[in-house]
Amino acid sequence: MKKAIITGITGQDGSYLTEILLEKGYEIHGIIRRSSSFNTGRIDHLYSDKSILNKKLFLHYGDLVDTSNLNRLLEKIEPDEIYNLAAQSHVKVSFEIPDYTAQVDALGTLRFLDAIREVGLKQVKFYQASTSELYGKVQEIPQSEKTPFYPRSPYAVSKLYGYWIIVNYREAYNIFACNGILFNHESPRRGETFVTRKITRAVSRIAAGLQSNLSLGNLDAKRDWGFAPEYCEGMWKILQHDKADDFVLATGETHTVREFTELTFKEIGIELDWAEKEEKERGIIKTINLEKAKELIDFGRKSSGYKFGFSENLKPGSTVVTVDPNYYRPTEVELLIGNASKAEKVLGWKAQTKFEKLVNLMIKSDLDKVLQRGY
Ligand code: NAP
Ligand code: GDD
Repeated sequence: MKKAIITGITGQDGSYLTEILLEKGYEIHGIIRRSSSFNTGRIDHLYSDKSILNKKLFLHYGDLVDTSNLNRLLEKIEPDEIYNLAAQSHVKVSFEIPDYTAQVDALGTLRFLDAIREVGLKQVKFYQASTSELYGKVQEIPQSEKTPFYPRSPYAVSKLYGYWIIVNYREAYNIFACNGILFNHESPRRGETFVTRKITRAVSRIAAGLQSNLSLGNLDAKRDWGFAPEYCEGMWKILQHDKADDFVLATGETHTVREFTELTFKEIGIELDWAEKEEKERGIIKTINLEKAKELIDFGRKSSGYKFGFSENLKPGSTVVTVDPNYYRPTEVELLIGNASKAEKVLGWKAQTKFEKLVNLMIKSDLDKVLQRGY
């Protein structure tokens, strides 16, 4: 049985990766942070399973800013593979807490690599959660492993350090260390302050009459959005390759935040119109397809036990999206679109879930939650 350490196990990717590796027969050691309230929501279904907890899944307190803790865990566990997913992962927040972001995202990676040297784990394989944010002000379209980097936030600059320290330790000490340069990947487990989940959650709540408006920042930023579980399978594939290397994982499609918003509303039968420009721009209900809304509710009542229906207050002409400059970033990444042909050729990895399907599965999941619980 292979042993894997996963940092960031309580996050979106950590939770999916845990499921995937358990399925493959791994023993998992997850590192969690002490928190004043529960932070294991995404892995509770595994954690509460008596056949898994402390048999195949072990949780340890730890933090990427605590070197001695990392050393102790490595000595005790002696893992075959390490997936370093822990990070202060919010780009906008990194402008508010740049020092902490660097401590975790840049130096945290170094601490782990150095602990591997210190403990003398010669055979271990190390996956680093690198990011398309490295491309920032893009120097080439689409972006591949060969595209020069131009980071545009304290988060991206910290991850750039993480990227290069992986390359350096691989070359200097022959550690099997790899960067997965992953483009945005989303899911129903995505944190609620990232734009996709913020949109699908807000649109569900607007439909139910629990909130009247969705407030967004830059509507014209473009992202290459894929489905998180497929990217976590890609992380595993990267470590199974016979040579340590760096890979881009992406869908090869790009869409604006505006398109994501329009399509999410469309999924519940609302067509949007846009009025005014820039900070005054507003998304207004153009038409409502009452038949589609009724179909959704009837289906949800039968399949998911919906207790709530759509709000009667949704009317053509109502403003449901506004722009709030507080969500703008001091420096923005305007366009990301990845070229994952190396991963397809070398690893046999290809993104399967494209934009429309992703929006559909995320809005369905949030509608289910909101209309079952009423909040
Ligand atoms: P996420 O949902 O924000 O999860 C981050 C995880 O890191 C959480 O488990 C968090 O713990 C943990 N963490 C934060 N600071 C820590 C610290 N100081 N010590 C130990 N653990 C800490 O992020 P994600 O979307 O799953 O992304 C996983 C990784 O991939 C991150 O490194 C992210 O930067 C990178 N990435 C993500 C994407 C994407 O589109 N999702 C794309 C490229 C790269 P708590 O639960 O206690 O907060
Ligand atoms: N969060 C957020 N909230 N973003 C908004 C909003 C809003 O209200 N309105 C517009 N946006 C725009 C942002 O300005 C950005 O251009 C885009 O939506 C995506 O923002 P996020 O969803 O926060 O993700 P991100 O692209 O900045 O970062 C994510 O992907 C990176 C990979 O490229 C994170 O998961 C990073 O950890 C990851 O490295």
